[in-house]
Amino acid sequence: MTDASATLSAVDVSTARSVPRAATAVGYAVATKGAVARSLGLSRSALEANGFSGKPGQVLAVPSGDGLAVAVGVGDPGSIDANGLRSAAAAFARAASKHAHLATNLADVDGVDAKAAGQAVAEGVLLASYRYVGLKNDESVGSKLESLTLMVGEKRQKGVDQGAERGAVVAAAAAFARELANTPPTYLNAKDIAAKAVDIGSASGLHVEVFNKDELEQMGCGGVLGVNRGSTEPPRMVKLTWSPKNPTGHLALVGKGIMYDSGGISLKPSDAFHQVMKMDMSGAAAVLSTMSALKALKCRTKVTAWLMCTDNMPSGSALKLGDVLTMRNGKTVEIHNTDAEGRLVLADGLSLAVEEEPDAIVDIATLTGAVMGALGPDIAGLLGTDQALVDQLKQRSADIDEPVWQLPLEKDRYRKLLDSVVADMRNIGGPYGGTITASIFLSEFTGDVPWAHLDIAGPMKVDGDEGIYSKGATGFGTRLLIDLACNFSLPG
Ligand code: BES
Ligand code: MN
Ligand code: ZN
Repeated sequence: MTDASATLSAVDVSTARSVPRAATAVGYAVATKGAVARSLGLSRSALEANGFSGKPGQVLAVPSGDGLAVAVGVGDPGSIDANGLRSAAAAFARAASKHAHLATNLADVDGVDAKAAGQAVAEGVLLASYRYVGLKNDESVGSKLESLTLMVGEKRQKGVDQGAERGAVVAAAAAFARELANTPPTYLNAKDIAAKAVDIGSASGLHVEVFNKDELEQMGCGGVLGVNRGSTEPPRMVKLTWSPKNPTGHLALVGKGIMYDSGGISLKPSDAFHQVMKMDMSGAAAVLSTMSALKALKCRTKVTAWLMCTDNMPSGSALKLGDVLTMRNGKTVEIHNTDAEGRLVLADGLSLAVEEEPDAIVDIATLTGAVMGALGPDIAGLLGTDQALVDQLKQRSADIDEPVWQLPLEKDRYRKLLDSVVADMRNIGGPYGGTITASIFLSEFTGDVPWAHLDIAGPMKVDGDEGIYSKGATGFGTRLLIDLACNFSLPG
């Protein structure tokens, strides 16, 4: 696996007062009204004659000398925000994707805080430049980007510079999550992701512990072990800790790390969804990539994270329907469908998180197809036991433009759908409300700790190139969890 975060962090991001010599593609912010930068070399009427009105997301690229000048729409003057800048920067990067040295004045718009603007523009360009090269022999499909210069006036330069530095860290983290999820399943099994976590952890100031099958047995992690039973690959649980001096709070993160979800004995059909089940570890990838960025971002919150990693496979030794598992917290679960495996591995992770008595727990998982029925492909489901924590996630989500929508937990109405004759609960509810019943199941393992759950089955991937995303894994949740950790305030 090539290391995309290393590739993206190799991009030189800087600020300058004017167009640097090396830049061959230069993007200029153009609003729907007002002056057009002279250096663009195009008048407003020339732009309009070519269908460019300055609407957000619009770009018009024209050859300029040996390079490219790009008009980048930013909408009504004064109405743009950091999220608009990130999208505009992504559109610019796509228009300039043949070029290695990019420059833009997008972070120099009035009305957006300099730091936020610098971060958003760096993120937009870097995220949109990510390409998965994978196992292609033709490496020319990879990103060409080598340098990005944010052109900015003297007054804003320091702020834009600081923001751009953070943006580069965040984008590299998200690229790392995308790289993990795009990797073919046999190239990234539970042992492999644990080894990556050890490497990344030591490079980014984390304490890392890896638990193997024997250790998981001693710990009573019946969920992970049950799901692993059909697999020839052993499971791994990874615990990562970021422990700053005098922390301002303690956040726990748990990620679903199903390295490949075949469904188990309840085998999935060979359809388009089965095809992307190598990405069923996207939650664990988002958590690991979040952890990798905390030191560079000087995060003041203590963060403890669990990656719950195994394949879900059918075989002679696989979990059977009707089997009962005993989870880490002692609760028993009757298996009614082996394809509802994510909640089984999360149950152990959540139980372990509760034991550490953090201020809050957030888990992230590609948990249910049902969430796409409810919210479509782009929006993550958000549920939880603590409204202040849920609200905090909503705020962070709106700030950084990874969309979430809260669904009701409704324990009083729907907990009975999980009732089992032989055990404390069964692992699936009825045919409806699958995201809610899955979440109620998880809530059985969160004790009294404020808890929220992100179901990212929809936004974990995109089916084509769009904005900051390129076809394949999106790294969704990385930017959200980074922003949550760095701005975490105690619920209640
Ligand atoms: N990993 C899947 C959920 C999923 C589906 C993620 C599509 C991304 C895209 C999960 O393990 C699963 O199989 N869920 C089942 C639950 C059902 C058996 C109750 C589902 O959603 O069908
Ligand atoms: Mn499944
Ligand atoms: Zn799954």
